[in-house]
Amino acid sequence: MSMHTGICAGPVPRPVVATLQRYSRAAGLDTVRWVGSSNESCTSPSPAAVAAMAKAAAGANRYPGIAGDKLVAAIASGLGLDPGRVVVGGGSLALLGQVLDAYAPAGSTVVHAWRSYEAYPILIALAGAESLPVPLDGSHRHDLDAMGKAVTDETRMVLLCNPNNPTGTVMDAGELAAFLDNIPRHVLVVLDEAYREFAEAEIDSRHLLDSHPNLVILRTFSKAYGLAGARAGYLLASAGIAANIRAVAPPFGLSSLAEAGAAAAWSDSAHLAATVSGVVAERAYLHEGLLARGLPVPPSGGNFVWIPAGPRSLELEAGCVARGVSVRAFPGSGVRVTISVREASDAVLAALDSLDPTLPGIPASHSAASSAGTHHSTGGAS
Ligand SMILES: Cc1ncc(COP(=O)(O)O)c(C=O)c1O
Repeated sequence: MSMHTGICAGPVPRPVVATLQRYSRAAGLDTVRWVGSSNESCTSPSPAAVAAMAKAAAGANRYPGIAGDKLVAAIASGLGLDPGRVVVGGGSLALLGQVLDAYAPAGSTVVHAWRSYEAYPILIALAGAESLPVPLDGSHRHDLDAMGKAVTDETRMVLLCNPNNPTGTVMDAGELAAFLDNIPRHVLVVLDEAYREFAEAEIDSRHLLDSHPNLVILRTFSKAYGLAGARAGYLLASAGIAANIRAVAPPFGLSSLAEAGAAAAWSDSAHLAATVSGVVAERAYLHEGLLARGLPVPPSGGNFVWIPAGPRSLELEAGCVARGVSVRAFPGSGVRVTISVREASDAVLAALDSLDPTLPGIPASHSAASSAGTHHSTGGAS
């Protein structure tokens, strides 16, 4: 009831709330046999992580440490960094939100590639800053030249995704160093390395932190470590930047379960290596199957592949769902398929083969490969 008018209009949200893109959900998620739509690991977490989380659960009546100091210590010692340069949180997205809160004031611009991770524009808008998306180049890669040129006096942050979600393309250390050399030192460069473990050549940008103190490296336990449901991520930065990012963190943002699970997963390098090699092998199979169908699929450094299906994207998604695999379609642009098991890869290839090749969007040659029988599906779930 309004004290002034007697009309109850209800609480009014901040204007930005109505403008936010909703994080989309893939079709068929509740019915499919294989989930290939969220870039999760299809492998369970390390048994040591599961045991550590179960043990931590028994003590869940207590609050965790304020800033995840045990996990910080494990990561810092593993990477040979001062703990003051490591910040942990409830997933790398939560950390990105903190980075934006600390370094992207209202009205400033944040330059990022597009298409890239769909959460970026949402978090940037939430922080009150403005997204400045720069189109990928013709090879589905970050156009670093154009991104550098997009930086203006209003720009406080540049966000890079390496490997890029959803296209899987990778920037090497030389390209990144050259880019950083051209960015003014007062602009923070955030390098999101959520998928770094799956890249063919090692992505090790850590050394760039010393030469470029305006760099922040964002990483996660959600992908190669198989802990998406636990919510744990970390970032590396200069001690000064790390302290500012820690200052805007909600207290107790990393649960004791997530901290224990992530620390145990961090120590289980054999499990990590097995997960990654399984994904890399299956990714090669699917990638080759797609290339054999004449599709211009870029090489991927992530646990997913990008099929530039253009106007056929929704149709391809529906075909995949009908064969038991959820995938992520970006209408008009492409379909991202998370790597899982052989049956799921074959179901995606079968969905592709079933598309009418006379319609535009997918090269007609894809049907030649399928009719030659070299990549026939062993069938999906339905
Ligand atoms: C590029 C990228 N960054 C960050 C995330 C989110 O990671 P987290 O689960 O650590 O919040 C994802 C998840 O899909 C992602 O694709």
